[in-house]
Amino acid sequence: MKIIIAAGKLEQQKADGAIIFLFEGEKPGKVAGRVDLALGSMITKLVKRGEYTAKPGAVHVLYPEARIAAERLVLAGLGKRSEFTLNRLRQAAGKAAQILRSAGAQDIVIDADGLGQDAEASAQALTEGSILGLYRFLKYKTNDTNNRNKDIRKIVLLTETPALVKAMQKGARTGEVIAGSTAMVRDMVNHPPKDMTPSIIAAQAKAIAKQFRLTVKVLERKQMEKLGMGALLGVASGSAQPPKFIIVEYRRGGKKPFIALVGKTITFDSGGISIKPGEGMDKMKDDMAGGAAVLGAMRTAAALDLPLNIVGLLPATENMPGGRAYKPGDVLRTMSGQTIEILNTDAEGRLILSDALSYACTYKPAVIVDIATLTGACGVALGNEAIGMLGTDDRLKKSIREAGEQTGERVWEMPLWAEYFDLIKSDIADMKNTGGRGGGVITAAALLSKFVQKYPWVHLDIAAVAFTAKERPYTPIGATGIGMRLLTQFLRDYGKKK
Ligand code: BES
Ligand code: MN
Ligand code: ZN
Repeated sequence: MKIIIAAGKLEQQKADGAIIFLFEGEKPGKVAGRVDLALGSMITKLVKRGEYTAKPGAVHVLYPEARIAAERLVLAGLGKRSEFTLNRLRQAAGKAAQILRSAGAQDIVIDADGLGQDAEASAQALTEGSILGLYRFLKYKTNDTNNRNKDIRKIVLLTETPALVKAMQKGARTGEVIAGSTAMVRDMVNHPPKDMTPSIIAAQAKAIAKQFRLTVKVLERKQMEKLGMGALLGVASGSAQPPKFIIVEYRRGGKKPFIALVGKTITFDSGGISIKPGEGMDKMKDDMAGGAAVLGAMRTAAALDLPLNIVGLLPATENMPGGRAYKPGDVLRTMSGQTIEILNTDAEGRLILSDALSYACTYKPAVIVDIATLTGACGVALGNEAIGMLGTDDRLKKSIREAGEQTGERVWEMPLWAEYFDLIKSDIADMKNTGGRGGGVITAAALLSKFVQKYPWVHLDIAAVAFTAKERPYTPIGATGIGMRLLTQFLRDYGKKK
């Protein structure tokens, strides 16, 4: 799909479909006002009759019948101007692009004026919203040429101010990179687990490294043994798939310390010997969504040439039952030397992360951010609308929170008070891998905190948001790609600060 920036008048743009945005309770703006006039005040009448409200994400298709050059016109609602956010713009663009695609449109033009002062940011949001809204995963549909042929090929972002074209081009380019990386993350997570094994992810990381300016090193079982990664190896012991410890480095920050990103990469979580119930187990292919988000953020950082040093770590393995599998009652020795008693082999994410966090510390990083589909408890606490955030550093938490507001991938903090640590005390080891029924998000994070030494650290629990069962404005059912845009925004802001 091509995104093009152009200057001109919307009424004169030949296209299969045109999109204009409206604010709730307001008359059509400058461009929309002229279009309204050309259509004999059709828009004003629709609004007056209450047939179209411009509520957030509300879309309506009109057929102008040659009164403007485009064949179809979509009214896309932004809600109240006082509540405007870039995320609302992404949502409206996503819905509008979707409705035009289902109507059969293949090239569309979007009125990008009148959306606030920052033309670059608006162009980025319009690009992200439409590309992400149009995302589909058709790889395993053998009979879907119909859908495939009907993809939108071209989107023109139109302004009437030629002086804005340059800024808009920059925003659109950023948006294309970010949406492209998000689609990559969604693709990875949507793949069947047999086609997204640790080895396949390692190969994909290498392919991305080749395409962008990244280096990749993959540690094999032998090397993990040498490093003493007993927790990761314990989880891997039941699987026929060899585990991989994937290290992605990006160096464009001179002498700056590394930022470490760590992503849980369980390519399938059966629960292991503490096996999960059958219902919904298929969803456990999404247990590598944290690792995919980290890989996506590394790809984006390189494509956008951010002035930073970043290391991405993906501890990758399946969690399977089997004759060699680790068991409840086992005690695993981690890379840090600390021991963990296993009460439940299904609490495996914190185990592989403990070794990955220790490895992250060897970089003496400025900050560590880990992202993981870690606990079902996170969905109980926050539903499917928020990422759980816990951590040790207020400044870092603040910038992650702000990146969440910017991207619409919002986080909500939970506490890591000393009292919670009592819940993971073990009788025979340094700690145990589960903390009882209450506060499951917190006890999981409490365990992780034992492995980050003194480094500023934030943990993001995306278990409840990595996969969506309901359609969202720019997120179709399936993998959401969540975390990629959040991490990217955090990195971009971080690059500006120092
Ligand atoms: N991968 C799961 C968490 C998860 C649950 C992800 C639902 C996506 C959707 C994790 O490894 C897990 O099984 N956690 C257990 C921990 C428990 C045994 C302490 C859980 O949440 O039930
Ligand atoms: Mn599990
Ligand atoms: Zn898991």
